Amino acid sequence: MNKILQLNQIRKVYATRDIETVALNNINLSVDKGEFVSVMGPSGCGKSTLLNLMGLLDQPTSGQLLLNDRPTDSHNDKVLSRLRNENVGFIFQSFHLISDLNVLHNTEVPLLYRKGVSGKERRQRAREVLERVGLSSRMKHFPSQLSGGQKQRVAIARALIGRPDILLADEPTGNLDSKMGAEIMDLLKEVNGQGTTIVMVTHDDRLAGQTNRTVRLFDGERVD
Ligand SMILES: Nc1ncnc2c1ncn2[C@@H]1O[C@H](COP(=O)(O)OP(=O)(O)OP(=O)(O)O)[C@@H](O)[C@H]1O
Ligand SMILES: [Mg+2]
Repeated sequence: MNKILQLNQIRKVYATRDIETVALNNINLSVDKGEFVSVMGPSGCGKSTLLNLMGLLDQPTSGQLLLNDRPTDSHNDKVLSRLRNENVGFIFQSFHLISDLNVLHNTEVPLLYRKGVSGKERRQRAREVLERVGLSSRMKHFPSQLSGGQKQRVAIARALIGRPDILLADEPTGNLDSKMGAEIMDLLKEVNGQGTTIVMVTHDDRLAGQTNRTVRLFDGERVD
């Protein structure tokens, strides 16, 4: 009941024309509601693959993934997109903001795909989450006019506007200097403290040390 994600015997194989890569093998892992979990391991060990599966951006080759106790393997793309849009927020190392939308409009994007949310409500909720991440004074700025830390704050606001159960963060501080990285980490801890479950990939032991627990991968397998 209190498990938000459950991965049973997950395997992911990428097959290109002449090579098969086993990106994940025999992964068993569950994440409880309210947890802040970090994922560590060397480059190429399968961290991003794991996050993509958790966020329903991709499907495992075999094994089962349950989101809120419900299997996800029988869903078609439309159902998966809706589940993703309603349950999951993503943030990435390289922010993934839309350069010709201002901060307010970037933040509103996930709600454009939500039925039953009016333009007025969208704007109101964008203002609220931007306030939460400390960016009220930058709503009319464009991404190119922001620092790296501020861009990541916009990405966090955009991830939170849909009120997801879980936030998946793939090296969210990877492009930031250590001071800005620490600020983003503080913000993520605050968001977690307010009830959002977080899974974060990081290469930084100090950041991983501030989470509830660390899952370690090596060559596609769990080694912790
Ligand atoms: N779309 C793809 N097609 C084929 N192979 C892929 C694909 N995506 C990832 N891989 C391979 O799967 C393995 C795991 O990749 P993944 O991106 O999950 O690693 P990672 O742990 O996130 O690495 P990094 O720390 O460099 O981001 C790698 O060997 C990679 O080359
Ligand atoms: Mg990666």
